[in-house]
Amino acid sequence: MKIIHLSDTHIVDNKEKNLYGIDPSFRLKKALDSIRKHHSDASMVVITGDLVDRATKEAYEIFYNIIKDFPIPIYPIVGNHDKKDLFLKYFPKFTHSGFVQYAINVDKFVFLFLDTLVEDKPYGNLCQKRLNWLEKQLKIYKEKKIYIFMHHHPLKSFMHDMDKYANLKDSDKFWNIIDRYENILHITYGHLHRITQMQRKNISLHSTKSTTFQVAFTPNEAREYLTNEEKPTYCIMLLEDGDLLLHHHEFLNEDEKYIGYC
Ligand SMILES: [Fe+2]
Ligand SMILES: [Fe+2]
Repeated sequence: MKIIHLSDTHIVDNKEKNLYGIDPSFRLKKALDSIRKHHSDASMVVITGDLVDRATKEAYEIFYNIIKDFPIPIYPIVGNHDKKDLFLKYFPKFTHSGFVQYAINVDKFVFLFLDTLVEDKPYGNLCQKRLNWLEKQLKIYKEKKIYIFMHHHPLKSFMHDMDKYANLKDSDKFWNIIDRYENILHITYGHLHRITQMQRKNISLHSTKSTTFQVAFTPNEAREYLTNEEKPTYCIMLLEDGDLLLHHHEFLNEDEKYIGYC
């Protein structure tokens, strides 16, 4: 089974158009063109939050119009730049118990989409209601292989500002639940705007770059850490039983890259 993971599209409205000199809509369209061309066999596309940069109705409308007719099902979640009510105006079916949380059941897999948004804050949190929903799903799907998608990184990233100001608060409550289930195989997150991998016990985790701007690796406190030097990626996730293979693909100017054999 193939899943395409996109993250942090940060779409802006027509007043702003560019973000740090980049057109986020153009980049998202390029990513979708590439997926259509190379991965039409994918079962789903997941976008792990920060769908828009500044949460205005117009920005969501632009985002919605770009993805609405895509031939592969797209599953978005919210990040710290999003607003739940505006999101749900355009995507009313992706909600449960008042949050942007939902489960997708495909054969032996179950994909759980979590809402870590604390509105107007860079950090994230899973309140008791959201954790209760998560635990309920894990009890229902004990026999399935579970993959989780969320915006905030649930482990330390060693990127100073992302851990100090923009982490998942009370992550121990999340792990207290997760640690009790052995059928959770992998967690996918966004937010870091970097390719990262993590491991906790038997669970692997990863993020891919933003489709728009990237964040430099800064272990120490940094005033400036955004960068548009690095090329955006999307991640191709190949799932087979309990195995998982990840490819991070640079999709801008991809046609220029195929120049021969290695
Ligand atoms: Fe972001
Ligand atoms: Fe974020």
